[in-house]
Amino acid sequence: MKVLIVGSGGREHAIAASVAKSPRVEKIYCAPGNAGIGQIAECVPIGAMEFDALTAFAKEKAVDFTIVGMDDPLVGGLVDVMEAQGLRVFGPRRNAAILEGSKAFSKDLMKKYGIPTAAYETFDSPQAAYEYLETARFPIVLKADGLALGKGVLICRTKEEAFAGVKTIMEDKQFGAAGSRMVVEEFMTGREVSVLSFVDGKTIRIMTSAQDHKRAMDGDQGLNTGGMGTFSPSPFYTPEVDAFCQKYIYQPTVDAMAAEGRPFKGVIFFGLMLTPEGPRVLEYNARFGDPEAQVVLPRMKNDIIEVMEACVDGTLDRIRLEFEDNAAVCVILASQGYPVSYEKGFVIQGLERFEGAEGYYCFHAGTKQTEQGIVTNGGRVLGITAKGKDLLTARENAYKATEWVSFSNKYMRRDIGKAIEEA
Ligand code: AMP
Ligand code: GLY
Repeated sequence: MKVLIVGSGGREHAIAASVAKSPRVEKIYCAPGNAGIGQIAECVPIGAMEFDALTAFAKEKAVDFTIVGMDDPLVGGLVDVMEAQGLRVFGPRRNAAILEGSKAFSKDLMKKYGIPTAAYETFDSPQAAYEYLETARFPIVLKADGLALGKGVLICRTKEEAFAGVKTIMEDKQFGAAGSRMVVEEFMTGREVSVLSFVDGKTIRIMTSAQDHKRAMDGDQGLNTGGMGTFSPSPFYTPEVDAFCQKYIYQPTVDAMAAEGRPFKGVIFFGLMLTPEGPRVLEYNARFGDPEAQVVLPRMKNDIIEVMEACVDGTLDRIRLEFEDNAAVCVILASQGYPVSYEKGFVIQGLERFEGAEGYYCFHAGTKQTEQGIVTNGGRVLGITAKGKDLLTARENAYKATEWVSFSNKYMRRDIGKAIEEA
């Protein structure tokens, strides 16, 4: 089987590594990929938003199965374009990817179907938002409606901050067109947990849980990023929490999408907050999390191709997902200054240390192969993942392995998985 993976980050590297383990796969292409993915796949210089070029490539190479890892092409309808040409593609169609593509859509869906989430209001004009905020309770959360690389969310402690936030999102359009519409939401407290799932339109299978660290600096300080590190499983995701979510969140979401005529096939990522009143949905994503995939997929025992094909074919009810009875921690090595401004192009040393190191993974995010060797090419550079018999061991292993590689402006959080100690 020939597989094409669309995307270029650490998530796509983790997906490629899983796909490479499938005995049915003989060839992997990745568009556009990165230097690490290039070690297990043939990278082709086609961007993830070049739908026609991707489709033509898949047809020309007789690709049997395409996996779309990233949100932008999913929300933009890449799956529809490829399917129209008779290709088999893993990922939601455009009318289902809206679950991630529009916060207003996902909030309205949850309200209509009684899925627990924060109370909210949607605004199409800044004036209406200012008026609402005059009498609102603080803190309050402002969210740009559309895709904003995980950055279109502002938590405002006072009315003044909230007014400034509306200006940023709706008037200054700092998050672009994503800010033409805005959701204002009740502020919730609690621990966050990420739950990924496979969905075939009607059946949902939950993967092992994970927790991300979204802020740039230790102690959850600094700006929101794409994610600075993860651990899996989350010790806070108890059987009681799971039972609640199975009953009130997971299947109800899949059923709601089907009832709306938008059957969802692919991965639904549930961003949950475990509030004192019980689990609530913070957000949905229509794809694997990054870097959640880097701790969840290495622990999955199933053949990923078999599971993904079952999602496409609507036969997921026949699949039982199995995960190793261990733990994994991923620490992101970033470029100093991420997520604002940073230098790139520095040679990365020590990558060979991971060859043959059982239970250790070096997933590439922003890297590039040059004549000088592999160099840094983005804000998030590498995801260093290690397994261990439990979370504490996995964390020790992961931090040890972060020392194996070096590059000029290497930056990491030192407290990934610190919450484990409180469990
Ligand atoms: P989102 O992209 O919607 O997941 O939001 C990004 C981050 O903002 C989340 O991971 C939370 O840490 C925080 N957040 C979002 N919505 C809320 C909320 N209603 N209450 C408290 N924190 C929130
Ligand atoms: N790690 C969060 C995300 O992928 O959106």
